[in-house]
Amino acid sequence: MSVDDDYVPVCDRSDLEAEGRTVVQQDGRAVALFYHEGEVHAVDNRCPHMGFPLAEGTVEEGVLTCHWHHARFELQEGDTFDPWADDVQTFPVAVDDDTVYLDPDPEPTVPPATRWRNRLADGLQENITLVQAKAVIGIDDAADAAEQSDPGTGDGADGFRTPLKTAVDFGTRYRASGWGRGLTSLSYAAELYPALSGRDRRRAMFAGVRAVADAADDEPPRFRQHAFDNRELPADRLKSWFRENCEVRDADGAERTLLTAVETLPPAEVVELLVAAATDHLYMNASHTLDFVNSALATLDHLGWDDHAAAVLASTVPQLTDATRSEELSSWRGPVDVAALCFDAHDDLEELVAAGAGRTWDEPDGFVETLLGDDPEAIVGALRDAIAAGATRRELTDAVARAATRRVAYFATNNEFADWNTVHHTFVYAVAAHELAGRTDATELYRACFDGAVSIYLDRFLNSPRAPVPEAEPGRDPETVRSELLDCFDEQGGVNRAARLVAEHFECGGDPDDLTAVLGRGLLREDADFHTLQNVSAAVRRFDALDDAAERRLALVAGARYLAAHTPTRREHEQTFSIATRLHRGERLHEAE
Ligand code: FES
Repeated sequence: MSVDDDYVPVCDRSDLEAEGRTVVQQDGRAVALFYHEGEVHAVDNRCPHMGFPLAEGTVEEGVLTCHWHHARFELQEGDTFDPWADDVQTFPVAVDDDTVYLDPDPEPTVPPATRWRNRLADGLQENITLVQAKAVIGIDDAADAAEQSDPGTGDGADGFRTPLKTAVDFGTRYRASGWGRGLTSLSYAAELYPALSGRDRRRAMFAGVRAVADAADDEPPRFRQHAFDNRELPADRLKSWFRENCEVRDADGAERTLLTAVETLPPAEVVELLVAAATDHLYMNASHTLDFVNSALATLDHLGWDDHAAAVLASTVPQLTDATRSEELSSWRGPVDVAALCFDAHDDLEELVAAGAGRTWDEPDGFVETLLGDDPEAIVGALRDAIAAGATRRELTDAVARAATRRVAYFATNNEFADWNTVHHTFVYAVAAHELAGRTDATELYRACFDGAVSIYLDRFLNSPRAPVPEAEPGRDPETVRSELLDCFDEQGGVNRAARLVAEHFECGGDPDDLTAVLGRGLLREDADFHTLQNVSAAVRRFDALDDAAERRLALVAGARYLAAHTPTRREHEQTFSIATRLHRGERLHEAE
C-alpha cells in the first residue's frame, strides 16, 4: 500500500505487537501507540484530565483506562466515558509491511472554536471546573490563532464574547431563581476584563463561567413567560403594571409585562421600569436588587440588546418580586425611623425635581461629610435641597458613591469581620445607582440616593475609629510598589498596608492602569468569593468613572483594603487554571510521561 505524505514512520509493527504499547515523540509531543485486537491505535500520551501518561494505562475490550483517576476512553476515536476528563486526541495510523506510520498533525474534524464552545457548554452543564478552564483557554487561543492567520476577520467568537454569551445563555435558562450571584459575578468579571493584562483576562472569564455553573448546580431550570399579544400598550401603563405585579410579588405577571416592554419600548424606557420597581421599596435585598439589575444591563452592553434583552431582563424578575424590603427591618425603623424619612422624601420627589428644573447645582462644601454624618434628618435634608437646587441624577448618585467609598476605605479592622460586607453592600449599591444614572433619567433614581445615604448613615459606627490615612512614602519605584502589593495579598492582616501601597503608587507617579491590572491579578489568582469579585470590580469601575485624582485614589484604596481583608485563599481554582493552561500548551504535567 502507499502511505500518504503526511504520515511519518514511527515504529515497527512487529515490535509493537510484541510489546503491546510504546511511546514515540513527534514534534515535541509524546504519542502512545497500542496494539490491541489486531489493530494499531495512537493517542496523545498525556491524559486530558491531568496529564498522566496513558501508555501506562490499561487497555481492555477497546477501552483505555488511565491509572491516575481511572478516566476511560474509547480507544479508536478517543471519546471519554467520563466527561470530567475530556476526550483524548487520537492520531490516524497506517501500517505498511512492518512499519507503523502516523499523521502527527491531523486536520481537526470540528474547528477548534466550535469544539471548545461545545466543551464550555459541557463544563457548565456538568459543573466541571477543569473543563470550564480548558474551554475558556481553548476559545481564546482559537480566537488568537484565527486573528493571526487572517487579521481583522474575527466573527465575534472571541475569548471574551463567546464565554460571556455561552454562560449567560446557560445561566438564564438553567437557574429557576434567575439572575443572581453567578451571573452578576460573570458580569462584573467581564467589566474588569479591559483593566486586566495577559492571561488574567482568561482567568476573569474562567471565574465568571465558574460562578454561573456553580450557581446553577442542582437548580431546576427556568421556564420563560411570553410577552402579551397587545403591542399597543403605552409605556406608563406597562410601568404601572410592572410595579403593581412586583408589589404583590407576582413574578409571572411582572415577567409578562416586562417582556412586553422589552418588545415594544426603547431600552431607556425599559430601564426606567426596572429602576422604578427596584426602588419602590428601600434598599431591596440589602443592595443586591439594584446591583443585579445594573449588572444585567451591563451584560447587555456586550451581548446586544436586540438578541438578549428578553432572556437577560426576564431573569432579573425574581430579584424584584422576592426581595427583602429594608423598611421591614428593625434597623430601618428604630431608634430613628429612617424608612419614614426616605418615604417622605420619595413622596416629595416630583415637587423637588420641579423646583430644580433649569437650575445648576453647585455641590456645597462639605456635602460628602454631611452624608457621612450622624444626623439622618440632615442627610436627607441635604439631598432634598440638592434636588431642589437642580442636582442631576448623575451628580447626586456620584456624591453618594463618594461617601459610600469612604465607608470601605475607612473601615476599622477592629469590627466584626462580617461587617466588611455591610459597608461593601452600601458601596456597590451606590456605584450601581451611579452607573444606572448613565442609562436613565428616571426620577425614581433619586430614591436610590436616599436609600444609599441612609445605609451610609446606618454604617457609621463601622468607621469608628476610622482607618488611618495611608502615609505614603514618596519617590519609590512603582514596579516595586506593585510587587509589594501582590505580596501583601499573600498574607493575612495586610489591610492598611495595602492602602498605603496604593497611595504610594499614586504618590510616586505609577501608571494607574498598571495598578488596576495588579489588583485584578491579586483578585483572580484567589478563590475570590462573590463579594470580593463584586467589590474589586466596583472599585475599578468607580476609578474609571472619576476625574478627581484624590477620589480615584480612594476608590482603589477601598478595593485594595477589601481584597487584602479577604486574602489569601486556598487558590484551588488557580491550580485548576494552571493545569488547564499547561495541558493546552502541551507541557508535561507528570514526571513519568
Ligand atoms: S484520569 Fe488520567 S490524569 Fe486523571
